[in-house]
Amino acid sequence: MEPSKEYLFKYKGFYFAAKNTSLEYVASLEDFEIKDSDIFLATYPKSGTVWTQNILSLIIHEGHRNGTENVATMDRIPWLEYKTGDVDYADLPLPRVFATHLPYYLVPRDLRNKRTCIIYVTRNPKDVMVSYYHFSKYISTLEEVPDFNDFMERFLAGKVLASSWLDHVEGWYSHAEDFNILFLTYEEMKKDLRSAVLKICNFLGRKLSEEELDSVVRQAAFENMRKDPRANYENLPDDMVAKDKGSFLRKGTVGDWKNIMTVAQSERFDKVLKEKMKTLPIKFIWDL
Ligand code: A3P
Repeated sequence: MEPSKEYLFKYKGFYFAAKNTSLEYVASLEDFEIKDSDIFLATYPKSGTVWTQNILSLIIHEGHRNGTENVATMDRIPWLEYKTGDVDYADLPLPRVFATHLPYYLVPRDLRNKRTCIIYVTRNPKDVMVSYYHFSKYISTLEEVPDFNDFMERFLAGKVLASSWLDHVEGWYSHAEDFNILFLTYEEMKKDLRSAVLKICNFLGRKLSEEELDSVVRQAAFENMRKDPRANYENLPDDMVAKDKGSFLRKGTVGDWKNIMTVAQSERFDKVLKEKMKTLPIKFIWDL
């Protein structure tokens, strides 16, 4: 089944959300002007973007919020390709931090300057798919595909926002040398959040005190973040989300795919992706 044009449009082989951006705007991003201090968080959807976004916000802005305590993470770290409101990105305080689902080949050309820090987070693709399935019921700007099996076929065929999971991950990994990039996985963050936060700090050249580090780890823990209206995206407008059908922070676990995928579905999934996944330089953790 082809995705509905009401929800998705394609630019250079990549699907964008039609209700949140335009072809002209995404095409213009290749010329987007980069500042050396910029930081980019790149992910395939449902890989832990909002989580890492919050961690970056805590590392960079905590302690010197200067009256911006109530600014939501999504305003501090806006989406590059889904520009909302009238904020001029050129005027954001430095360092600017952007979140993006762009594939490596559509990012601003200047990102290949090898100085701008890019953090790329991956997650095991079965959990990504299951999270995505639930998310498409919750978020009104995505087409709901009620039947899980139908959703899986769309996911495997890359007929969803951000196209093929495998192409996205493989693209960023195989072009890593073009960028200044840190790879992280959702599962390593789950296993040892403190070490993951430290890794990010080292990459960004930020030194936090033990107390600051403890505070970031505490505030980024699932249960605390879920309660934090700045970080949990609960203030999205009613026409964007069906609040009775879920939330951005849903379960936050590793291995939830086992609760929904049948053995046959899991085998089908493995068959489609396994051969290709052999070339990825990461071992996925399917359960913790
Ligand atoms: P689940 O749907 O499996 O719960 P993204 O931000 O890229 O859309 O990813 C969303 C996924 O990250 C959701 O997964 C969400 O619950 C999870 N997530 C968000 N914050 C988290 C946190 N602090 N700890 C663990 N998982 C988190």
